[in-house]
Amino acid sequence: YRRLRVALLGAGSVGSQVASLLRQHGDELADRAGATLELVGIAVRDVNAPREVDLPQELLTTDAKTLIVGADIVIELMGGIEPAREYLLEAINSGADVVTANKALLATHGPELFAAADQVGAQVYYEAAAAGAIPIIRPLRDSLAGDRVQRIMGIVNGTTNYILDRMDKEGAEFADVLADAQALGYAEADPTADVEGYDAAQKAAILASLAFHTTIPLESVHREGITQIDKSMMDAARKAGYVIKLLAVCERLNDDAGGESISVRVYPALVDREHPLASVHGANNAVFVQAEAAGNLMFYGAGAGGVQTASAVLGDVVSAARRHIAGGVGVGESTLANLPIVPIGHV
Ligand code: HSE
Repeated sequence: YRRLRVALLGAGSVGSQVASLLRQHGDELADRAGATLELVGIAVRDVNAPREVDLPQELLTTDAKTLIVGADIVIELMGGIEPAREYLLEAINSGADVVTANKALLATHGPELFAAADQVGAQVYYEAAAAGAIPIIRPLRDSLAGDRVQRIMGIVNGTTNYILDRMDKEGAEFADVLADAQALGYAEADPTADVEGYDAAQKAAILASLAFHTTIPLESVHREGITQIDKSMMDAARKAGYVIKLLAVCERLNDDAGGESISVRVYPALVDREHPLASVHGANNAVFVQAEAAGNLMFYGAGAGGVQTASAVLGDVVSAARRHIAGGVGVGESTLANLPIVPIGHV
């Protein structure tokens, strides 16, 4: 097989699992990709930091820039805007395809990255950026490209779903279960991103952009978190036949003049206990998609967790490798003209 040089930026809970699975299943992935995926290095902040998974010390480096040079595929799992943005642009401009799970970066600088990739015929893969292990990026971008998505209702944050689920089942209080979610490794480094809905809003912007073939700026996403939800509200919802879930709702709205706009909002919503989204428990995620021709579809699974999210990252790596082997046809992801966006609150 031809050898492809894979550079990994970041060795946190997802990155270390990606490195480990890549080495463990290297032969099988090579058969599938049609190329040997050679992990040439792992850029980290501190080569001596303790890690969840043992990684070969000789692969660790603090010099991301040198690692990027000459790589065919660059996987960015560092998170944050800078220097991740700078590194990804460098990778793209040096001819690499890039794989990222960085929802914050994509929700704020996605168009810049896609434009840079378009220019050089590179590709940006980001299946792991929304809803962890669940395949949802390709279904929205590719499988449903011939349809018209009307609405998405997603449980896209595992931490808040875990918290709300335990509050619902056990009558627990918010603060008590947050600590457990953190201990289980679901929460972001700063759990404010989870409980105030920032993480879900970033994912909503990514999903809505794909579903409606436009660019949804993060600023236009209406956002409310779950910190105000208490036991009495949970009890009242339960008595009325509902459960409270943090939903990301993305939908097309028609106005009387025949025009169309898009609303994207994240808020704690009352979900009927009969609705499939009500049965999403623990840290799981689900994305309920309503499309004109396909009807209702639901994508369900692990939305957080290192090894689970690593599955989506490695799928992207195999796709990138196949594209390289096939001759790197420049498949741009250019967006269409923007539709007007109307942020609104509760339904
Ligand atoms: N903190 C995120 C969550 C991790 O709880 O869903 C996955 O993006």
